[in-house]
Amino acid sequence: IVKSVRLFPVPHSCAPQLRKHSATSSQQHNNKTCVPKMDIMFLKTHKTGSSTFLNILFRFAEQHKLKFAFPNNQNDFYYPSSFQRTYVHSYRSGKCFNVICNHMRFNSAEVAKVLPRDTFYVTILRDPAELFESSFHYFSSITPLTWRIPGEDKMAEFLRNPNLYFSPDKINSFYLKNLIFFDLGGDNTLHPDDPRVEESIRLISGNFHLVMLMEHFEESLILFKDIFCWEMDDILFFKLNSRNKSAVSKLSLELRAKALQWNSVDWKLYKHFNRSFWEKVEAYGRERMERDVAELRRRNAEMAKICIDGPQSVAAGSIQDNAMQPWQPFGEKFIVGYNLNKNIDEANQKLCRKMLTQEIQYLKDLGANVWFINILRQVRYIINW
Ligand SMILES: *[C@@H]1O[C@H](CO)[C@@H](O)[C@H](O)[C@H]1NC(C)=O
Ligand SMILES: *[C@@H]1O[C@H](CO)[C@@H](O)[C@H](O)[C@H]1NC(C)=O
Ligand SMILES: *[C@@H]1O[C@H](CO)[C@@H](O)[C@H](O)[C@H]1NC(C)=O
Repeated sequence: IVKSVRLFPVPHSCAPQLRKHSATSSQQHNNKTCVPKMDIMFLKTHKTGSSTFLNILFRFAEQHKLKFAFPNNQNDFYYPSSFQRTYVHSYRSGKCFNVICNHMRFNSAEVAKVLPRDTFYVTILRDPAELFESSFHYFSSITPLTWRIPGEDKMAEFLRNPNLYFSPDKINSFYLKNLIFFDLGGDNTLHPDDPRVEESIRLISGNFHLVMLMEHFEESLILFKDIFCWEMDDILFFKLNSRNKSAVSKLSLELRAKALQWNSVDWKLYKHFNRSFWEKVEAYGRERMERDVAELRRRNAEMAKICIDGPQSVAAGSIQDNAMQPWQPFGEKFIVGYNLNKNIDEANQKLCRKMLTQEIQYLKDLGANVWFINILRQVRYIINW
């Protein structure tokens, strides 16, 4: 006998006491009330700069004591399984969370069951050719179908004739085709003209209040700040989890065209949200955007000077503080990181440390249970993998 489980509705909002908003916010000049959004769904897509955004979100949520819906034991919601509410650590019906932001395969109906109705949704996309290049290399050790590709330049060989190598049934094959559409819950093997693609794009547009673009990260953050009613202080950042530049393959025009054709569903998605992105920028005001982006860059450079030792990022082997050691793909060491300045004034010490703390370590600081991934870290440290 299946006992029917009673589902309790999640409250309309579970935002804690709101802080007083300072008068600098642009919306306040227009005399509209501007209440910072505290119920937030961030769909963390792969290889899109989402780790950098996550750090911003972690800091804000920590400062405002927001409640996270965390995964169990690891840093994703059993990706690539489609998200289920029961994947949330300590989930029970009717419990209210403010923020959900770990990797998942999006499933809007289930996500909605753990978040208040006033939740704002945000995600980030990236040019699909660049994304493909990044994903192809980053995940190569866990995508067996790339292992048997012959030659020096496996990616070029793959793109020369993808159907020779690709098979949707092979383990982790989604990393190699329309990965963003897959992350958003879609079937990544659809033909771009399949009506289900248009339909998915329509649903995604309906779900998300903002779709950011990695290529215009600062503009994205300014729009985010405006829509979520945050402040400039809240969106300062250092680029995290990026590859050493010498490990990035520059795509020739020919390879780029092939990569876009191969990932044509993602390309369609990207073009759609590129259009709506620039419409939002237009509505915000081009000049105002330029001014605000310049201000954000100035503030970031100022923070870099205060927080970071040396002029820029360093190789993993030169990172002294364990909290700042980035997670590396298996068998690789090409993700770079930073060293914290030695003499930071007291006022900035905490902020600097948080801005430079990597995702897994920050999750642990926030109280997430990441024992599984920590064991992996330690094993890999011991066997120097
Ligand atoms: C703006 O808000 C202030 C304070 O609430 C109020 O006194 C003023 O009349 C408002 N101005 C406009 C143009 O609505
Ligand atoms: C994105 O939109 C901008 C502004 O309309 C346009 O100049 C650019 O070519 C578009 N890019 C893509 C990839 O569609
Ligand atoms: C990037 O890699 C190159 C070549 O391996 C190396 O010389 C350089 O120090 C690296 N830079 C960083 C920041 O890791």
